[in-house]
Amino acid sequence: MASYKKFALVTGGSRRIGASISRRLHRSGINIMIHYRHSKDDAVALQSELNNIRKNSAFVVQADFLEPESYEYTISETIQSFGGMDFLINNASSYYPTKIGNISLAQWEDLISTNLKTPLFLSQCAATYLKKTKGAIVNITDAHIQNPKEGYSVYSIAKSGLSTLTKSLAKDLGPDIRVNAVAPGAIIWPDNKQEFDKIYRENVINNTALRRIGEPDDVAKAVEYLLLNAPFVTGETINVDGGSW
Ligand SMILES: NC(=O)c1ccc[n+]([C@@H]2O[C@H](COP(=O)([O-])OP(=O)(O)OC[C@H]3O[C@@H](n4cnc5c(N)ncnc54)[C@H](OP(=O)(O)O)[C@@H]3O)[C@@H](O)[C@H]2O)c1
Repeated sequence: MASYKKFALVTGGSRRIGASISRRLHRSGINIMIHYRHSKDDAVALQSELNNIRKNSAFVVQADFLEPESYEYTISETIQSFGGMDFLINNASSYYPTKIGNISLAQWEDLISTNLKTPLFLSQCAATYLKKTKGAIVNITDAHIQNPKEGYSVYSIAKSGLSTLTKSLAKDLGPDIRVNAVAPGAIIWPDNKQEFDKIYRENVINNTALRRIGEPDDVAKAVEYLLLNAPFVTGETINVDGGSW
């Protein structure tokens, strides 16, 4: 059993923004359950990196959130490893365009499940344990939902739903559990996405007040603040978008 005081589950926590959240929270003394679906090598490498810094401070759990039993399983693996939990970070997500006229039910299931249904059911499963520790949840939404990107309707409504869910859960799980969100703007371009060509990327940067994209650790810092330094903040969203409204 791990010996540190606070325990967090980071979904999709093995790479990209999720890995930055895992690393930053770990640096704050929190022990991390790194969830992954396919990225086993990244998850195991990050686990070993964190355990080299602090013995028995990182564990991994594999789950595909399209499987209904994955919610209970992921939370119970976290509880078995740590004996309790303080924080849940709902970061895992699928992201791709859904052109109207060709939207399939499978795409709907995938995008709505990973971005909206999973955060709800993981929060529900974790609530009993988070209540005991007066814990907190952070949902990772998307700053672009204020002005949805053309061709991304299903992803956009899923993230909008997650934004509303953040406020609903803040009421339903208060006063013991705080629930907030971080809404990133452009942070890391998606892997292998043709539509994010040079012109698109330049346009995004030109429409951002700070004239650059962000870094994964910018998101992680906001998550860290909401979890550790915001005891009277709940139901809120911090945009980490360099000013791209
Ligand atoms: N990247 C950006 O600039 C940006 C901008 C706005 C918002 N965001 C939000 O910030 C968060 C992190 O972004 P990101 O770009 O780092 O995310 P990402 O790489 O697109 O996805 C994060 C992880 O989600 C996991 N995942 C996807 N489908 C899953 C499923 N069915 N079951 C379980 N896990 C699943 C994947 O895990 P495996 O790899 O293990 O399969 C993946 O590594 C996301 O919520 C995203 O919507 C990001």
